[in-house]
Amino acid sequence: MGFHRVGADVNEKTWGGRFREATENIVESFTESVSFDARLYSQDIRVSQAHARMLVKVGLLTPEEGEQIVEALQTIKNDIEAGRIVWRQELEDIHTHIERALIERVGEVGRKLHMGRSRNDQVVTDLRLWIREAIDHLDALLADWQRAFLERAEAELDVILPGYTHLQRAQPILAGHYYCAWLEKWQRDRDRLADCRKRVNVSPLGAAALAGTSLPIDREFVRQELGFATLCRNSLDAVSDRDFAVEFVSALALLAVHLSSWAEEWILWATTEFGFLDLPDRFCTGSSIMPHKKNPDVLELIRGQAGRVMARLTQLLTLLKGLPLSYNRDLQEDKLAVFDASDTIMRCLTVAIPLVRASRLRRQNIAATLDYGFLDATTLMEYLVRLGIPMRTAHEKVGQLVQECERRHCRLQDLPPEVYDALVPGLGASVYEVLGIEAAIAAFQSAGSTARVEVEKQIAYWRQHLQSQPWASPSPY
Ligand code: ARG
Repeated sequence: MGFHRVGADVNEKTWGGRFREATENIVESFTESVSFDARLYSQDIRVSQAHARMLVKVGLLTPEEGEQIVEALQTIKNDIEAGRIVWRQELEDIHTHIERALIERVGEVGRKLHMGRSRNDQVVTDLRLWIREAIDHLDALLADWQRAFLERAEAELDVILPGYTHLQRAQPILAGHYYCAWLEKWQRDRDRLADCRKRVNVSPLGAAALAGTSLPIDREFVRQELGFATLCRNSLDAVSDRDFAVEFVSALALLAVHLSSWAEEWILWATTEFGFLDLPDRFCTGSSIMPHKKNPDVLELIRGQAGRVMARLTQLLTLLKGLPLSYNRDLQEDKLAVFDASDTIMRCLTVAIPLVRASRLRRQNIAATLDYGFLDATTLMEYLVRLGIPMRTAHEKVGQLVQECERRHCRLQDLPPEVYDALVPGLGASVYEVLGIEAAIAAFQSAGSTARVEVEKQIAYWRQHLQSQPWASPSPY
């Protein structure tokens, strides 16, 4: 951000009274925060308007003075939105800019607004409001994100996929089951944000610098005006607490880890080696030298940006670990971490939602490989268990059959009945009904399994759950 230097007279500072010389330019540029906290302007103005109304209520401002201030703050908001406010580094931060603009507009009355509060309680109130709004926006975005997965689950419910553990073929799963697995993770991400919101939604205003104030303010009135659920009980804690910001960025970091792991899976699936996924051209990019390339860069950047969000969490934790009570200027850095983590997640989701909606499983490719990897071996073992063979014995016997298949280069269903009869007399007559992928998938029955009825239950659950959820509006940030 470029600054206009309008000359810094000592007394122009809100704190200039006790200073005999003007601040060094390099000190001003080093300590300013308006280059990043200007985006708190609407929260700051709301907080100031609530504070002014409270001052009227308790008789510290006349109703006329209060009205003048509230109205002038509104014009300042309009001017900021129209780009008519010039940011000046000597005015430090958004709070001082708005207070200065107010005094310019209403004169002496404007000089009264800051009574009974400090920038220390003001900035943390602004930040709590900002995070609360960000959580609400993110929640709607995540509901959309979940809907995109639900749509894929419904459209591709029946596609049989090889399920993996250790990235080795394990057991067959329905694609509907696969998508629902991700829906669970996105839901817990939303739940974590909702839980964190409870501790965000607490009003610190009135803690003033650190110890409260000797003026007869009404904190409860301001709490109600700003829609906070409760009041911070302790003024020292109120101005120093950034736990809520840590919780917010921590929830985002875990969401970023989930996004990254999903992106990694889809990057693998889009390779020639897997060939499971068709990513539309419009969500891919090419190579400047290799004409044939179609790269999943969007997914790679989502995977890459998880590192940023995790780093922001580490930044916040490190910021706090050495701080004595109460407010310390280090805390100014909290906003950089909060804004960047939040922006990064919103950007990722905004591109990932349409990408998921536009992607398709390559049904033929997937089906063509299902015969490899003994995906039905576990079902066969369980079949033997149902015949009364102890599990460990059944496990060993099927292991031997797999060995035999590898020797013959064939599938379990290609072994002749004699091989099965040799294991368990009479087995060769019935075993083929549980062999092969279709039979293996049809055999599942436990709750929460990939059995078709179980997957249908999950889909019905999500359909119902997501129906009542908010729709994301365009990002306000
Ligand atoms: N820009 C500051 C911050 O973000 C505002 C609070 C400044 N308080 C102070 N006592 N200098 O933390």
